[in-house]
Amino acid sequence: MKSFIQQAKDEQYAIPQINVNGLIWIESILQAAEDTRSPIIVGTTDKVIEFLGGYQFICSVIKDKVKAMNITVPVIIHLDHGLTVDNCKKAVDAGYDSVMFDGSKLPIEENIKQTKEVVDYAHQHNVLVEGEIGAIGGNEDGVIGNVKYADFNDCLRLAKETQLDTLAPALGSVHGKYQGEPNLGFAEMKEIQNALDLPLVLHGASGISDEDLLKAIHLGHAKINFNTEINIAWSNQLRQTLNEDTSLFNPQQILNPSKEIIKTTVKAIIHKCTSQNRV
Ligand code: 13P
Repeated sequence: MKSFIQQAKDEQYAIPQINVNGLIWIESILQAAEDTRSPIIVGTTDKVIEFLGGYQFICSVIKDKVKAMNITVPVIIHLDHGLTVDNCKKAVDAGYDSVMFDGSKLPIEENIKQTKEVVDYAHQHNVLVEGEIGAIGGNEDGVIGNVKYADFNDCLRLAKETQLDTLAPALGSVHGKYQGEPNLGFAEMKEIQNALDLPLVLHGASGISDEDLLKAIHLGHAKINFNTEINIAWSNQLRQTLNEDTSLFNPQQILNPSKEIIKTTVKAIIHKCTSQNRV
């Protein structure tokens, strides 16, 4: 799995991480990736995992779907924002390919210590680890925070002292909807990318312009995370379907158009990340 992310960095494109919020997401994400020949990262946060049925269940459903749909592009099953070392270990045990330990709210010494514990465990099972420095602003699954730019020296320390595989330095992006224009720290991005030969991860990509996404890719981002953009498209479509025919009550009739819009939106995201036709 590491080689796919390294390849993306070397060839200057990004693998999209698309967050799952319900079972209909899984099929749509996989089909969009297969149709466009793009590697894909299927993300779930701890909270969504709890909501949908647990680590083992989610991981098995995704793997079963990959088989049943004859998906031939690389699919990386990823824990997004694992909030405790224990949750990351649970994801590893359940068969996830990659886990993010989000120690960004901890003092740096504690972030390093706990990220290292996750790396030591995950690497024994060939699982990748993503770490975070600084704070991505906004609201994700009810976790609300302000933007705090990643400190350069903290990034170096976390990468070197833990040997993690990918790093998410928070540089102005936010989860959820942006208030005003996104303002990414490209100078800081360049500094971090020059100092570290590590694929970087951009969180909070919904609402960032195509031009800025490409700049971030050229400055070392090989994984870009999307959630809100798909949720907005899904909920708009769902409202439209229900408003257009108020007599509908069959769940499949109600949900199929919104399932389709997830696929269309993911395909558009794949093109923004220029990961199409890479496999
Ligand atoms: P958005 O909600 O801005 O799309 O960000 C998703 C994300 O970063 C998941 O970790």
